[in-house]
Amino acid sequence: MASTYGAAQVLVASNRGPVSYTVGEDGSLDAKRGGGGLVSGLSAIGSDADALWVCSALSDGDREAVRQGVGEDGVRMLDIPADVHADAYNGIANSVLWFVHHMLYQTPLEPVFDAEFRRQWASYETYNRAFAEALAEEAARGAAVVVQDYHLTLVPGMLRELRPDLRIGHFSHTPWAPPEYFRMLPDDVAAQVLRGMLGADRLGFLTERWAEAFTACAERFAGGLGGTRIGVHGLGADADFLRKRAHEPDVEERIAALRQEIGEGRRTIVRVDRTELSKNIVRGLLAYRRLLETHAEWRERVVHVAFAYPSRQDLAVYRDYTAEVRRLSEEINAEYGTPGWTPVVLNLKDDFARSLAAYRLADVALVNPIRDGMNLVAKEVPVVSDAGCALVLSREAGAHEELGEDAITVNPYDVTGTAAALHEALSMRPEERAERCKRLAAAATALPPAQWFVDQLDALRG
Ligand code: G6P
Repeated sequence: MASTYGAAQVLVASNRGPVSYTVGEDGSLDAKRGGGGLVSGLSAIGSDADALWVCSALSDGDREAVRQGVGEDGVRMLDIPADVHADAYNGIANSVLWFVHHMLYQTPLEPVFDAEFRRQWASYETYNRAFAEALAEEAARGAAVVVQDYHLTLVPGMLRELRPDLRIGHFSHTPWAPPEYFRMLPDDVAAQVLRGMLGADRLGFLTERWAEAFTACAERFAGGLGGTRIGVHGLGADADFLRKRAHEPDVEERIAALRQEIGEGRRTIVRVDRTELSKNIVRGLLAYRRLLETHAEWRERVVHVAFAYPSRQDLAVYRDYTAEVRRLSEEINAEYGTPGWTPVVLNLKDDFARSLAAYRLADVALVNPIRDGMNLVAKEVPVVSDAGCALVLSREAGAHEELGEDAITVNPYDVTGTAAALHEALSMRPEERAERCKRLAAAATALPPAQWFVDQLDALRG
């Protein structure tokens, strides 16, 4: 992998990188490599490809690693000042751009684009510029650069000015807002975002729907796409990895423990999410409560296993949402629970092996986001499920474009409709469930992460 300036032929830029560091008690640095689609996608390029991943230092450990010159081959971490990073990441990326693309604002009170926003926006520009400059330094002549996500929308335009010779791509892992929502942003900011993105040769999106929304925004607010090409690459689940990982001893142990918690002979409705506003966990719980209320026959015969892992806890609105998920789960348990039956098994502690255990046991998977770029859980559960699960899936998830035919589709706002869908899923004949699940798994794995990345690269160079 590339280590000297100006030598990288393939570059990836993202806020979160493939590795993170913690400082041990003795002051030593401990590296932890993350998982996920991008990481496995990049490893497919191989070591002779002169690939470099540019990412941001996110923790004190990461910053210490940069200062000490500790690092992995093929990864360059940028030590952006912590306050600038916090403004750009929490302030703009997660509280503004994420909210716009997922349409999460409660508009009578939010958003308020005031002086504080302007200050944070300046940090977002600084943060994007740091990436553009690092990429410009590292890239070989004519190299391909793939910039990831809403954290880095200004990078393509900035990099284009610094290095007109590069092939620049950008990939959005989120939805893109329709013009009527996007125009909530102050006009100059909206124009800057679009100009930044349109600095790329090629923009990638997870579905046609998000690509069309971007195109519509570009046409209305930026005079069109110019020379920028648009492509759709629907990231799939990594079947080989998941199936192998889901049968390792730590997962088997957790299956045994979960079985105990669920109880003999009961059906299991599984959901696994970050505790994220867009995931719609609260309405999912309301729908489950409605199921117990209207279909008394399921009482004592079903358990809702809900794993909601902490996310973005720096933001008050995420902490409040987490508290509401906990409160409502407890309320349902108090209302319907019996000495031998806990209707909702909620767990807020991140544990991947436990998630896989739940996937294997699932009779029904509930994936009901308000809006979601893709949603990989919808793809992963059918791949791993032991007996074949039914999938209750929001029509607003990108995954719905690929899985809609064999899922039970819900409008995520419609709680009674979702309750009815849960009943339908629980009542499905086992043979039908197994057949549908097989087709879901096939569709879910059609584009493995490694191929997803290589396709983007080929298209960018082609
Ligand atoms: C989700 C989204 C991605 C985003 C990521 C950021 O996975 O789908 O679009 O890049 O969150 O997560 P982080 O924990 O780094 O804020």
